[in-house]
Amino acid sequence: MKDKIYIFDTTLRDGEQSPGCSMNTQEKLKMARQLEDLRVDVIEAGFPIASEGDFEAVREISKIVKGCTIAGLSRATAVDIDRAFEALQYAEKPRIHTFIATSDIHLKHKLKKTREQVLEQAVNAVAHAKKLTADVEFSCEDASRSDIDYLCQIIEAVIDAGATVVNLPDTVGYAIPQEYGSMIRTIRERVKNIDKTILSVHCHNDLGLAVSNSISAIANGARQVECTVNGIGERAGNASLEEFVMALRTRPDALPFNIDVNAEEIYKSSRLLSTLTGMMVQRNKAIVGANAFSHEAGIHQDGIIKSRMTYEIMTPESVGIKHSTLVLGKHSGRHALKKRFEELGYSLSAEELENVYSEFTRLADKKKEILDEDLMAILNTKFESDESRFTLKSMQVMTGTGIKSTALIELTDGKDTYADSATGDGPVDAAYNAIERITKMDGQLADYTIKSVTWGGDAVGEVFVKVIFHDVIFTGHAASTDIVTGSVEAYLQAVNRALTAKSAKSAEEVMIKNQANAV
Ligand code: KIV
Ligand code: ZN
Repeated sequence: MKDKIYIFDTTLRDGEQSPGCSMNTQEKLKMARQLEDLRVDVIEAGFPIASEGDFEAVREISKIVKGCTIAGLSRATAVDIDRAFEALQYAEKPRIHTFIATSDIHLKHKLKKTREQVLEQAVNAVAHAKKLTADVEFSCEDASRSDIDYLCQIIEAVIDAGATVVNLPDTVGYAIPQEYGSMIRTIRERVKNIDKTILSVHCHNDLGLAVSNSISAIANGARQVECTVNGIGERAGNASLEEFVMALRTRPDALPFNIDVNAEEIYKSSRLLSTLTGMMVQRNKAIVGANAFSHEAGIHQDGIIKSRMTYEIMTPESVGIKHSTLVLGKHSGRHALKKRFEELGYSLSAEELENVYSEFTRLADKKKEILDEDLMAILNTKFESDESRFTLKSMQVMTGTGIKSTALIELTDGKDTYADSATGDGPVDAAYNAIERITKMDGQLADYTIKSVTWGGDAVGEVFVKVIFHDVIFTGHAASTDIVTGSVEAYLQAVNRALTAKSAKSAEEVMIKNQANAV
């Protein structure tokens, strides 16, 4: 029987903490549900002591996601560990993940502690966590640059204290495969109680070696791999989940291990994450990039026509990229749309279908053939509609060279219509200024990205924005054949989210006041 490799997904913790990837609780919940469908073994849902938002996300994910172990990160202190456990209280399978650095570089410059002090702190932390829950993971931060004798000593001690998983991160992406694999092998040979734990690896991609290092580690005895969707994470990112999983699935001859991941959910997971964070995947990214399964060169196309095996080592279908059997357009009805979404792996409720269908017909008026990419862009945008306060009713922009652009915007909140105009540096800026005047929401645009979903003059453009309102970043996303409309809708989504957050906060304040009055 082949050994199982546990997939520990840290998209919502290590991934989310990297610049440009932040998500709010609702977005994290959506991603967590998708990770459950992807059938990862562990979801690291956040770092509860780091912020109220992280705490809330871990708690809410723990309530809803039941198919996976839910991990919460903590430093090796009782306060951190207690907070992590509090956030995990609703999890069916909670795991406390506690860590401290073990390399001399970190001990000397960051922690200013001796090896003995760190060892004692690590043991105390694991023992404390163990009193709260059975499943405790301990990470030796910067393991790959730590002294191997010290590493063996601390690992043995934390296993004695109850660590069920011991993780050996290549925190700074410094290791090379052969060396990293041999570190794992040495630990397995030297640590006498090693059989009482699962050895885990967590590789960063600073040298582009995160997946290679993870593979070398499992070949030498590691049985848990920590990774992220699209490889997002600190600096150059973490080991990419889809690359690691597909390496195992494509090369079982060289890598004879079992994994429980449902690889057909990979593409959906990748798309959802990009939509939620606005962090695009490069076209030539392995497995999930737009070019990963497209063949351009004549010789390659000829070979593919004769037999796909000539140039394709895995099928697009195996990661959930499906090819249309029917072309959707202006005359397609709800039934055809529903069926196509089902083929893409989404079963829509009647209400969701209605919502998406109205957007579909709007698009079909402008675009002859609606491709799967267009449908996914519509879907990901439409599922956000629950947060809408203001929607765009109409817009007129005047722009040109040598003149200041002007925008006249009409918004509706479902009951009333509000209109105002403003000028700006270009049509988008003018429109944003007009929205600001109407909504009284003074935002600062921190990021603006536009990407074409398909190709051709009538291609749908996806717009992602990040807007700062009172020091908090809100993201917005929209898809449209018209880039100014898309830009306005994306910005409005960020405004709506900020308004929702604002009213949630005031509701909380009222509740706290009421509670205080009751006492
Ligand atoms: O890279 C790292 O060392 C980490 C640990 C906290 C696991 O993310
Ligand atoms: Zn990390």
